[in-house]
Amino acid sequence: MQTDKANTWDKEASPSPASKSADMPAEAQAKPATSGGLDKLVIQGGQELYGEIAISGAKNSALKLMCAALLSEETLRLENMPNSLRDINSQIELLDHLGCTIDCKDDLMAINAGTVHTIDAPYDIVRKMRGSILVLGPLLARFGEARVSLPGGCAIGTRPIDLHLEGLKQMGAEIILDDGYVIAKAPAGGRLIGGKILFPKVSVGATENLMMAATLAKGTTILANAACEPEISDLGECLIKMGANISGLGTSTITIEGVDSLHSAQHSVVPDRIETGTYMMAVAMTGGELRLKKAKLAHLSALIPPLERAGVKITEDNDDIIISRDKSVPLKGTDIMTEPYPGFPTDLQAQFMSMMTLCAGASMVTETIFENRFMHVPELARMGADITVQGNSAIVRGAKTLKGAPVMATDLRASVALVLAGLVAEGETIVNRIYHLERGYEDIVGKLSACGANIQKVH
Ligand code: UD1
Repeated sequence: MQTDKANTWDKEASPSPASKSADMPAEAQAKPATSGGLDKLVIQGGQELYGEIAISGAKNSALKLMCAALLSEETLRLENMPNSLRDINSQIELLDHLGCTIDCKDDLMAINAGTVHTIDAPYDIVRKMRGSILVLGPLLARFGEARVSLPGGCAIGTRPIDLHLEGLKQMGAEIILDDGYVIAKAPAGGRLIGGKILFPKVSVGATENLMMAATLAKGTTILANAACEPEISDLGECLIKMGANISGLGTSTITIEGVDSLHSAQHSVVPDRIETGTYMMAVAMTGGELRLKKAKLAHLSALIPPLERAGVKITEDNDDIIISRDKSVPLKGTDIMTEPYPGFPTDLQAQFMSMMTLCAGASMVTETIFENRFMHVPELARMGADITVQGNSAIVRGAKTLKGAPVMATDLRASVALVLAGLVAEGETIVNRIYHLERGYEDIVGKLSACGANIQKVH
């Protein structure tokens, strides 16, 4: 029972997690993160892209699904996992530290949290990635307590976690901040209590943390003004397979009836809509034709109209997206504004701006989600882009060409925006500090090279 676990928690007594399992081979164990920091990408621009790219499972869903495993003693088996990503490795490191047994093979991952022996998520691991704060809700829900460092992640804004903490408090948790750590305790009895939580602002992470916490709470939780991102529905569907009672996924009101425990399940991660959109914009910029395999166009409804207005052809063929652009026809500028789903995703804003630098006329890009998400602008300017930032809007005046230059990647999506610019720029572009890129794009060099791009990673 939860109560017993909360009261008899013994951080010393449990053995270290076993690192091998019977159902997956030994070579499939958690991999160390790749080198990254000093690596750079060298791109010779000007090649059109032709061919096929297999879209990976969504990083932003996979990270949360891994945390969902903490809610059960039994094994969660995940398929279509983007296992080579740096962020996934950071999450593996964290779950491993907590005591989970994790086995990976190709795009499969099995997590057993029956061996968890601490509720302490330390700064050294959590600082690497904001997605690690998502262990808070599950730990608190299952064990009645959690101690989690305040998170790090991309420097795209202040990114507080007040909505996560307020929501947990409304479920009866006692929360204090001490020395950079969130220390959370469930009410007497060790179990959170359901209630109505109205988010004052739409937050993906807070919706996910609270949804996970509510699965094991006493009574019914209603999350109002919840985020509707496909990754949240993916997480919810996995939780339902684990025995959770959730309705309203994909809407702004999610209702969760708490249950006593969750059990083993198998779930396939939703395709990465941000990776998909990035490659759609890559071919829009370079010209050519790409088949994006196992993608989900329905999750990109806000990207399709501006891409079509710009002059790109998009069709669907079962689970594939075919996207083409005739390079002899100039791209047309178009305005976008980022918004919570189903609006235009903030995670595609930098790539879109990169594309607009080549469009005829002026376009306006407005960022409403994060206050510091124009860090790609000075780097794109080094490549000849004409962009003026005014508050949270940027006016992009399209040029006929960009020129290759050494540039510096500052956050995940800014990094890939520079790669896209490099693919189409005249001459050589060197993208330095690709650490962030490796957090979120599986084998980007291999995937683009296979379609004709001249891009290599050098140390
Ligand atoms: C997630 C995604 C990120 C994406 C973002 C918005 C992951 C790992 N990351 O981030 O790629 O860009 O959604 O689609 O899934 N906020 C608060 N208080 C909080 C939480 C958030 O004020 O407690 C603010 C944020 O500063 C931001 C806005 O709410 O301005 C939206 O943030 P949120 O949706 O929570 O983003 P993340 O979940 O961090």
